Amino acid sequence: MPSPVISATGLWTPPNSISNEELVESYNAWAAMWNIENAAEIQSGLLEPKQPSSVEFIEKASGIKARYVIDKGGVLDPGIMAPRIDERPNEQISIMAEMGVHAARDALKRAGREAKDVDAVICAASNMQRAYPAMAIEIQDALGIEGFAFDMNVACSSATFGIQTAADFIRSGNARSVLVVNPEICSGHLNFTDRDSHFIFGDVATAVLVEAEEFAPARHWKILGTKLKTQFSNNIRNNFGFLNRADPDGIGAPDKLFVQEGRKVFKEVVPMVAEMITAHLAELSLQPAELRRMWLHQANANMNRLISSKVLGHEASEAESPTVLDTYANTSSAGSIIAFHLHSDDIAAGQKGLICSFGAGYSAGTVVVERAG
Ligand code: COA
Repeated sequence: MPSPVISATGLWTPPNSISNEELVESYNAWAAMWNIENAAEIQSGLLEPKQPSSVEFIEKASGIKARYVIDKGGVLDPGIMAPRIDERPNEQISIMAEMGVHAARDALKRAGREAKDVDAVICAASNMQRAYPAMAIEIQDALGIEGFAFDMNVACSSATFGIQTAADFIRSGNARSVLVVNPEICSGHLNFTDRDSHFIFGDVATAVLVEAEEFAPARHWKILGTKLKTQFSNNIRNNFGFLNRADPDGIGAPDKLFVQEGRKVFKEVVPMVAEMITAHLAELSLQPAELRRMWLHQANANMNRLISSKVLGHEASEAESPTVLDTYANTSSAGSIIAFHLHSDDIAAGQKGLICSFGAGYSAGTVVVERAG
């Protein structure tokens, strides 16, 4: 049976970044306007006034200092509070596919691979720009790849679920080279008028090239094992969907965007993920101390501190569990892949690490890797 490996990863970062200061200034301007517009209802006790957001809270509660976005102007305009991303004609590549192509090209270049060598494309992301044709098929077409392509959505765990799916294609002999592409336009599902979550997300695209070991470049990452888990929860939810056109609340209602019970998510997901990592390592006869690095999902720095403490028995150093939250914020499925992409060059042959995702569903995935070559 062919062994799957990661040949390379790719990253595309939007050119525009928004600092916490800029985001809070725009939220507070919007909240002040809202309070003026609703002054009578606030006065009569029918509505609660909007409280200001704060830079200090955001950094302390999440570790986030900035985020990259596709459209900075719309997000920061208190009269809009959403990205303005123009629809493109059908003849032009869509924005999500375009981001994915950038990340995919980066991965292919790093692997010394040409598009014609790839057999399949999986677009694994938490939101798809449209129902069909699949984003993955558009990416496949733009890259000039033969074979097959499809989309999959497992929220923040889309990338690890995509990696296991690709690895299974390799093991079964159905493909030799699979591109897993994760374009995440999280600003599109974020409610920038919700003080509890307006700071959480950013936009980015990553790609992971999963290949059969005998076909891969000499320097690669062996996949020692993958594990996936899901457990239903309403604590992270987005009700946007194709049936909403008949919804009297209409598209754009708060529940048609990202909503969460952040505290409950924190409490429930931390033990679930820590137990999953520990069990997966035991199954592979590995001690936690044998992990040179953990590239954890990037949702919240405090959450990652707690998970790493439970797994390692001590709080992880930046070298043991790097964070990219400060510059990228939460980029859903792409977060752990960005951390892996940016913080793995120093890992020597034979050293091991863990890529781990978790998020809505709930869903969680672990990928244990070993540097080769
Ligand atoms: N600015 C200032 N204060 C704020 C604020 C903001 N933007 N947002 C909330 N607050 C206030 C709250 O109103 C609350 O005030 P109170 O104590 O007077 O009631 C206080 O800060 C604490 O709020 P809380 O929501 O309990 O904060 P928290 O410490 O739980 O942090 C999250 C919030 C969302 C950062 C945190 O719960 C989290 O990261 N959860 C997991 C999220 C996650 O991983 N989601 C997955 C997404 S894919």
